[in-house]
Amino acid sequence: MSGLAFQGLKRGLAVVVAEGRAVAPLASWRAPFASASDSFTEKIWGTQPHPGWEPPKKLPVPPAIENGKMVAIDPRVIGGKKCYPLIISAVVPRPIAFVSTVSKDGQQNLAPFSYFTAMHDPPCVVICVNRAAHRNGGKKDTMANIDETKEFTVNVLSEWFLEQANHTCGNYDEDVDEMALSGLTKEPSLKVKPPRVKESAVHMECKLKHKYETKGYNGEDTATIVVGEIVMFHVNESVAKKTPSGNTYVGLEELQPISRLGGNTYGRSRECFDLARPDRDWQNR
Ligand SMILES: Cc1cc2nc3c(=O)[nH]c(=O)nc-3n(C[C@H](O)[C@H](O)[C@H](O)COP(=O)(O)O)c2cc1C
Repeated sequence: MSGLAFQGLKRGLAVVVAEGRAVAPLASWRAPFASASDSFTEKIWGTQPHPGWEPPKKLPVPPAIENGKMVAIDPRVIGGKKCYPLIISAVVPRPIAFVSTVSKDGQQNLAPFSYFTAMHDPPCVVICVNRAAHRNGGKKDTMANIDETKEFTVNVLSEWFLEQANHTCGNYDEDVDEMALSGLTKEPSLKVKPPRVKESAVHMECKLKHKYETKGYNGEDTATIVVGEIVMFHVNESVAKKTPSGNTYVGLEELQPISRLGGNTYGRSRECFDLARPDRDWQNR
């Protein structure tokens, strides 16, 4: 294996050894907190796919991919709506924002959104709320409420309440309170009106910072991209961990996050591994 060998997990710290000498810890701040006696850790953490790889060696590509022809698909030819199954199956796995909102009249709403990403300085979330086909292209309740009150909460999805979360995504009427319908528990927020979902281990109270209305190829309204600034985090102490410098982070094993894949498929983060980033030195070798 050309001098490089994987030495396995030692107290959660994966190490690559070159000619008997440790060169790169594969885990950074996770390692000190993972213990071999942690059953979740044993279940989840595995080895990187190719521990003996050295740049610029080529890695083997599966024959079906190597010999397969690329099919070119022009979205303007097939139309934006027909891109839906392609996009949601190709851009995977996606995290899921479980978004709670309230209308100006106090009607509460809850729905999952996997067109979802985030940034940290300032801490913001980004979700994309499509127009509703069942409302002839009208707004979903989540978007109508954000437009009215400029506030929402994002609650992280975990395995232990997934079926309840999934139940909130039906095309229900606007006067339906999905939190009550699916048996979830409301927790009052500190800085915004929409409640949080008590069953979730990480909550983010958000205020609308920007929004961008998108148009389809025929000029019709198709979606709104919402940027919300996080004005308060809530982290359940059972998932909260500290980096060596004292910053809070969330333990993967404890969080049991669920992601969305294509169609109605969900995923668990059940086999993970750490991989060190290359040193700048590599550019001169
Ligand atoms: C896992 C999952 C992810 C979803 N992601 C999105 C999304 O990113 N954008 C969107 O517009 N709808 C998404 N949906 C559909 C909405 O949740 C659904 O339309 C919901 O009824 C909207 O509710 P509302 O009208 O109460 O806002 C998703 C559904 C599921 C189950």
